[in-house]
Amino acid sequence: MLDIKITRAETLKEKPADETKLGFGKIFTDHMFLMDYDAGVGWHDARIEPYHPFSIAPGCVILHYAQEVFEGLKAYRTADNTIQLFRPECNAKRFQDSCERLCIPAFPEDDFVESIKALVEVEKDWVPHTDGASLYIRPFIFATMEQLGVHASSSYTYCVILSPSGAYYATGLAPVRIYVEDEYIRAAPGLTGFAKCGGNYAASIKSGELAEELGFSQVLWLDGVEHKYVEEVGSMNIFFKISGKIYTAACVGTVLPGVTRRSIIELCKDWGYEVIEGKLAIEDVMKAGHDGTLEEIFGSGTAAVVTPVKELKYEDDTVTIGDGSIGELTQKLYDTMTGMQWGKIEDNKGWITPVCKG
Ligand code: COI
Repeated sequence: MLDIKITRAETLKEKPADETKLGFGKIFTDHMFLMDYDAGVGWHDARIEPYHPFSIAPGCVILHYAQEVFEGLKAYRTADNTIQLFRPECNAKRFQDSCERLCIPAFPEDDFVESIKALVEVEKDWVPHTDGASLYIRPFIFATMEQLGVHASSSYTYCVILSPSGAYYATGLAPVRIYVEDEYIRAAPGLTGFAKCGGNYAASIKSGELAEELGFSQVLWLDGVEHKYVEEVGSMNIFFKISGKIYTAACVGTVLPGVTRRSIIELCKDWGYEVIEGKLAIEDVMKAGHDGTLEEIFGSGTAAVVTPVKELKYEDDTVTIGDGSIGELTQKLYDTMTGMQWGKIEDNKGWITPVCKG
């Protein structure tokens, strides 16, 4: 059990008046959770403080070499005002795996879940009441040592911040257009693709911006070696339903092991679908798009939930999926995931962790 010192903000911010216009990750709550690490001491000083800027030295490791990891999960409000989390223990485990890859001292899994529960309880009034809106939770660790040599830092800060948010895409659940990136790559064997670290996202921004300029929501990354096999999309894993079977890239080091991804795989298997985690060539996806066997494409992620894809552009070729509207399985997955998360359908999987009454 953590011994958490709580210092409450003297004045509280005004809560958003219209929860249908929150956007994603733009508003932050009144408090944050903090803990520090020092070599020889370990993780110490668990505390909740008013939300405030950091003071960091210009020579600090994070600013030069991006020694940082993060997570993303959400707190949901049910109709009876229970505030609950979705599989936080999976995020805790992935956080540890990311720490290991970035040479950051492991953050204990129990402390991860406890810190989130404690902060969410303090901020329970910030959990939105509106359908489709939730409290996005962003835990992260960054290196705080002042040093320009490329070495692991000996000190770190763990922090959790909260942001009441709506849909990740401005278009909500409307199907998105995706641009297949054929020049830049996101990951390659031996690199950090499986870790949730800021560096992966920094390297992806250029492609994302270029795709947006062309009117696409995000890019679909191909594998970094042959530029041939589909891997993931900017902020979500991706699934293809072809001739009744579900395909997604295997988590073999270059793909983020998404919590929503694994939940979707489990649900699809429960519903009798064959799910193939492995290599799927973009050429085969495009071919299926043209011969009518590509039935659905959808992305999955904490922020993205389940996002339908209506169009893929690869080199000079474009395919539209079905009639461009949300597919039947995509809709069923969206309804099931959000149903469980918002407590509208029974959690028969043990995926829900209640936090408190709000
Ligand atoms: C999430 O889905 O929680 C993410 O972290 C994706 C993203 C917004 C970077």
